Order: sequence, then C-alpha cells, then structure tokens
Amino acid sequence: MAIGGAEAGGGGAGASGRSVLVTGGAGFIGTHTALRLLEQGYGVTVVDNFHNSVPEALERVRLIAGPALSARLDFIRGDLRSAGDLEKAFAARRYDAVVHFAGLKAVGESVARPDMYYENNLAGTINLYKAMNEHGCKKMVFSSSATVYGWPEVIPCVEDSKLQAANPYGRTKLILEELARDYQRADPGWSIVLLRYFNPIGAHSSGEIGEDPKGVPNNLLPYIQQVAVGRLPELNVYGHDYPTRDGTAIRDYIHVVDLADGHIAALNKLFDTPDFGCVAYNLGTGRGTSVLEMVAAFKKASGKEIPTKMCPRRPGDATEVYASTEKAERELGWRAQYGIEEMCRDQWNWAKKNPYGYCGTAEK
Ligand code: UD1
Repeated sequence: MAIGGAEAGGGGAGASGRSVLVTGGAGFIGTHTALRLLEQGYGVTVVDNFHNSVPEALERVRLIAGPALSARLDFIRGDLRSAGDLEKAFAARRYDAVVHFAGLKAVGESVARPDMYYENNLAGTINLYKAMNEHGCKKMVFSSSATVYGWPEVIPCVEDSKLQAANPYGRTKLILEELARDYQRADPGWSIVLLRYFNPIGAHSSGEIGEDPKGVPNNLLPYIQQVAVGRLPELNVYGHDYPTRDGTAIRDYIHVVDLADGHIAALNKLFDTPDFGCVAYNLGTGRGTSVLEMVAAFKKASGKEIPTKMCPRRPGDATEVYASTEKAERELGWRAQYGIEEMCRDQWNWAKKNPYGYCGTAEK
C-alpha cells in the first residue's frame, strides 16, 4: 500500500478497539513499536517528517505485519513544529493515546545546534500537548532516556535517583519530563508514562527493520555493525582506562523488541489505571556490558573480525550506567526477555540483509 495521506480505514480502532497516534513511528524504536501495536490489535497512525528515517521503513512494517494488520496502519507526513500538520493528524480520527517518539537524539549535534534540539524536541512536544488537549486525548507514552541520569553516582539507576543533563539533548529530555509532570499536576485528567530507555540495539527477527542512522553512526552498535559489513575499517574504542573489569565503559543494552513490548505494557497500564498521574519507568535489562564484551559478542554472532583501536575517552561519557528494572517489573508487569547474544544475532541478521540500510546503496 502506498504511503501517502490519511487513508480511509487505516489507523482506525482495531480488535483492541483502540487507536494510537505514533509520532516518529518511522524511526528505529517507532517501527518496532508500531508493528507490536498492530499485532496487539491497535489501530496505528504514524506521523513522521522523515528527518532521520525513510518511507521504506514503514513499507517494511507493512511487509512483516501482512495485509490484514497493515489495514490498520495509517501514515501522515507531518512535523510537530507545524500546528497545521498536527491538526491534520488529529482531524483524521480520534486517538485513545499518543506514543511520542519524534525528536532529535544526536548528542554531538545537540552541542553544535542546540536551537534545533529546543525547537524540535521542546516546541514540537508543546505543540503536541496543545493538539492533544484540544482533541480531548490526554494519555501519552513519552520517549525519555537514561541520559536524564547524567553521570549516575549510584548504580543501578533507580527512577527516583538524582536527574541531571550532560548536554543540550539530555536537557531537552529532562525539561520534557518536568513539563509532563507540571502539565499533569495542573490538569489531573492527563495520564503520562515517561519511559527511560537505556541502550536500545538489535532488530526485529525478520531482519526487515532495524536501525539505519544517516551518516557515520554515533552509537556503539550501529558503528560495530558497519565495521562488520565492511563499511567502516575499525571501531574506535573510546576509553580503556575506566575503573571497570576490562577498562572500557559499561552500558545496559536492551533488545529493541523488548523495548517495544515495554510500550505495550505502558499503554495497558494507562488504559487500566484511572487517575494514573505521571510516572517514570526505566526500560533496561539491569545488566551491564562493556564495550569490549559487546565487540566480542558481535564478532561471535557475525563471524566477522571487528578491528579495534584504543582511543581516549569520549568527552561527557559516564563510566557505568545500568538500570534498576524493579519498578517496571512490579508496576508494568514487564521485563526484558532477550540477552546480548540474541541482540547481536538479530542485529547481524538485519545488517546482512541490509548492509546499506533501507536504501540499499553505498550513496546516502
Ligand atoms: C548515547 C548518548 C545518550 C543516548 C544514547 C542512546 C552520548 C554521550 N550519550 O549514550 O544520550 O540516550 O546514546 O542510545 O552520546 N563507544 C565507542 N565507540 C564508538 C561509539 C561508542 O567506544 O564508536 C562507546 C562509548 O564511549 C560508550 C559506549 O560505547 O562507552 C556506548 O556508547 P553509545 O552507543 O554512544 O551510547 P551511550 O554513550 O550510552
């Protein structure tokens, strides 16, 4: 089915009887979540401006979902900075909730161009709240990030740990969390879940959808993947003198399909809990893996050499960050199912099938 304007029937309420607007639904986490929502019986309307994604990603979601589920997927090209685009999305149908992914997320870029981050992430989200309010839709699942813990003094990170921003990108997430709390306090009719993602990696097991960053990747796994397929010569390991078991920094990597399931659990919670309020949850595995452990796991999964070069620390990086998963387990009934081996297996499957991402060529 062609991707275009709102198509009659698509995006409407599915078997669950519920319809969800997914902003940024063509992105890495957005596609995986949109697919899961369709599988769970939701009607899904994606709004995306393709700033860091491509229409093909949604075609792949349709391919995996099949024609019956895809009939409930709709797409509206739009930018949250435009009130007109949002009006178009909300005029198309009634939504029971919004899952809000849309935003910029490159730390380095946010330092160079904070204006872009404040306009897209802050102004875009404020517009979204306004449109939701006007259309009587007051349930939101918001993409926050472990970045709000800054350089954690105590690990694992628990939801009521001290929050701090390490860069403009992180500051937009922190401000948007505060904004959500303020809006909800002012109008208790709002129900908002703040999901703090740790490090999402992996891909859908079909290998049809996965992460496809534009330009040279900033994040570890996309970089390793491009070394494995021969697009990049070697991995720069940023820091080998950290006080950790092998000297490299430790993060909590989580399979993107587990993360997508976390959104389903969050939505269920919103629909099942009257006067829910505004609550933050970590979505991580609770397990830390070092850079070199990750390299070894990807090497094993792919059978490829991953040449590494030891480099100085990347400015701003924390030594060790991983989640406490207790709150999400207890209150959302959700916990991650996949381990590092499966994350690398599925990411390699995506990489092998799509060495140059969705566009399939070296020129991007
Ligand atoms: C980064 C962002 C964080 C964001 C998260 C999303 C920074 C400082 N933080 O977190 O705000 O929410 O991505 O997933 O960018 N590494 C290398 N070589 C590389 C790339 C990374 O050694 O080429 C190392 C890093 O130094 C780090 C680890 O791998 O120790 C993970 O890096 P990355 O994937 O960028 O994630 P975070 O730094 O945790």
